[in-house]
Amino acid sequence: MHLQWYPGHMTKARRMMQENIKLIDVVLELLDARVPQSSRNPDINSLANNKYRIILLNKADMADPEITARWEEYYKKQGFYVARVNSRKGTGMKELRRLIAEACREKKERDRKRGILNRPVRAMVAGIPNVGKSTFINSFAGKACTKTGNKPGVTKGKQWIKINKDVELLDTPGILWPKFEDQEVGIRLALIGSIKDEILNTTELAGHLIHYLRETYPGVLEERYSLRMESDSRDVDILAAVAKARGCVMKGGEADLDKAARLLLEDFRSLRLGCLSLETPEDWETGTGQN
Ligand code: G4P
Repeated sequence: MHLQWYPGHMTKARRMMQENIKLIDVVLELLDARVPQSSRNPDINSLANNKYRIILLNKADMADPEITARWEEYYKKQGFYVARVNSRKGTGMKELRRLIAEACREKKERDRKRGILNRPVRAMVAGIPNVGKSTFINSFAGKACTKTGNKPGVTKGKQWIKINKDVELLDTPGILWPKFEDQEVGIRLALIGSIKDEILNTTELAGHLIHYLRETYPGVLEERYSLRMESDSRDVDILAAVAKARGCVMKGGEADLDKAARLLLEDFRSLRLGCLSLETPEDWETGTGQN
């Protein structure tokens, strides 16, 4: 799950994607609704060139709904079809089937004119590790999970899951890499738990979270940890206050910042601080989230 990417991985992933994409009509690009742009693959537009495209804001149940609505608009303006989904619960799947039909209407029409009837639209899922691809496939396929191989009796080759009479889904997702040369992206992916914590210093990471929350969601930390914060309190002082509030102390009575940092990150990831998003379209437009 927590994949580490090396150039070799990227070349292999790209090759698989290029091979599979030839077989399909529509790419279902899965993003994490809390960090949509940071969880995007930087090369997806060229990889999926000439395909119908649908962006799925997955884990929408974990994100700030008001910010998710802004992301929906942002991607729609760029010409994508967009849907919010919660793959764990299966919400948004009906809307997605409608979108696939809408996105591929032109192709269906073309097929019809050529006398090709009943050829299902073929789709594949793509996204970075941990964005929810397997959960999504299980959820979207649901009970209608009839697998169809290329030829009867041949298990090798591509497996297609028949979603309904009009849509087939490739059962293996395209695994893509994030834009890891961007430090902000790395921090956000680490905050949601998609990059190993060991790669980054935990207290530093918690410092980033505190900084962001104070700016974007004032009051959240105060409420959760019953803190009193001054505007000139430093982020590290706040972490120390969290340590104190939660009894994270070392033997000598000193604040255990590392333990407090892990606790804070865990509280964030398990939604105990609420459904919060870590970036907005404006962050990318103004450049704070970019490059
Ligand atoms: P991947 O194939 O893209 O690598 O991702 P995967 O499906 O393994 O999902 C990664 C984690 O994200 C899983 O949690 C999964 O349950 C969770 N997840 C996927 N989609 C959603 C969603 O829409 N909402 C929420 N809240 N969670 C989602 P896990 O804790 O790693 O595994 P598990 O305990 O669920 O088995």
